[in-house]
Amino acid sequence: MTLAIPDDPLSLGVVDEFQKVGLRIWGPTKKATRIESSKTFAKDFMRKHNLPTAKFKIFDNFGKAKEYAALQSFPIVIKASGLALGKGVIICQTLKEASEALENIMVKKIFGESGNEVVIEEFLTGPEISIHAFTDGENYSIFPTSQDHKKIGEGDTGPNTGGMGTIAPVPFVSNKLLRGIEKNIVAPTLKGMNADGNSFSGLIYPGLILTKDGPKILEYNARFGDPETQTYMRLLDTDLLDISDACIDKKLNEIEIKWKNLSACTVVLASGGYPENYEKGKIISGIDEAEAESDIVVFHAGTKIENNNLVTNGGRVLGISAMGNTLEEALAKAYKATKKISFAGIQYRKDVGQKALSFKK
Ligand code: AMP
Ligand code: GLY
Repeated sequence: MTLAIPDDPLSLGVVDEFQKVGLRIWGPTKKATRIESSKTFAKDFMRKHNLPTAKFKIFDNFGKAKEYAALQSFPIVIKASGLALGKGVIICQTLKEASEALENIMVKKIFGESGNEVVIEEFLTGPEISIHAFTDGENYSIFPTSQDHKKIGEGDTGPNTGGMGTIAPVPFVSNKLLRGIEKNIVAPTLKGMNADGNSFSGLIYPGLILTKDGPKILEYNARFGDPETQTYMRLLDTDLLDISDACIDKKLNEIEIKWKNLSACTVVLASGGYPENYEKGKIISGIDEAEAESDIVVFHAGTKIENNNLVTNGGRVLGISAMGNTLEEALAKAYKATKKISFAGIQYRKDVGQKALSFKK
């Protein structure tokens, strides 16, 4: 069995190619993956099925997009429709910023073909959470909630990244709220995809913002979140392969998916300069010492072996994950272990989980 995980091969149709020749593969088809790979597809889908999301308009013409932007009250959000390594969303405070963003995306094509169409949408406010659910197309099973920290800087400042740290479950999300999200977002999403002939099997990950008018969908991902998954894998108490097998056989309803009744977190260690230009090849030390601490797993993201040394080889280098009876305990363990690790230019957020804890009732 093959698990198809990253967005690029999924959007190119790796699952369809495997299926054509009768190979067992877990993941959504190319058609279904459009819910992530095309923001215009996702927004049209949400409109059609009355799913809660920011008000929006889609443009393939630079002049018309600029005219529309000029009529909006700010801030507004401009999104390249296609995949853009998590960088295709620009929050614009002024018309000048919006014009620049539109020009960069639609004329200068800084995200290539991903910028052929743009979505312009209203700016929403509220805490963001990540929802994950396994699905075989018919049945689904929702995970505990998690929360990423997308900005590079403490207090959610600076540019967006792929994700700097996660916690699960999110302490301020009640069971009642999660059941509402399941009923009003997860179930109708899968039903809508089915009704449109785009049946979705694999992992559906809606990114939500909890506004004062209720949860709204910021985007869908057709894959596991990174670094949400590092945290989830600490809590999952059923074999992932058994779940994937059940998904492929459309028998997800026959398997019980268990989660540990604990809290977990992951702190991402990134290269200096990330998410802009960063250097690679810095020697990493202290991983054994970090893993000698209790309940720690160090996940590798951007590392490689060079001349017998473990060196940095990406923007996000390592994820230090921990578990505990409470979120506070998990975070204390993760940060204790994090201090054992060093490489030149290392940067990480020291406030992972703090905002969520401050919301806790
Ligand atoms: P996306 O890739 O669509 O999830 O966007 C990346 C990030 O941009 C989100 O996690 C939000 O922080 C922010 N964002 C996207 N859309 C909006 C919106 N309509 N209002 C406010 N922030 C947004
Ligand atoms: N955690 C952000 C993402 O995987 O897109």
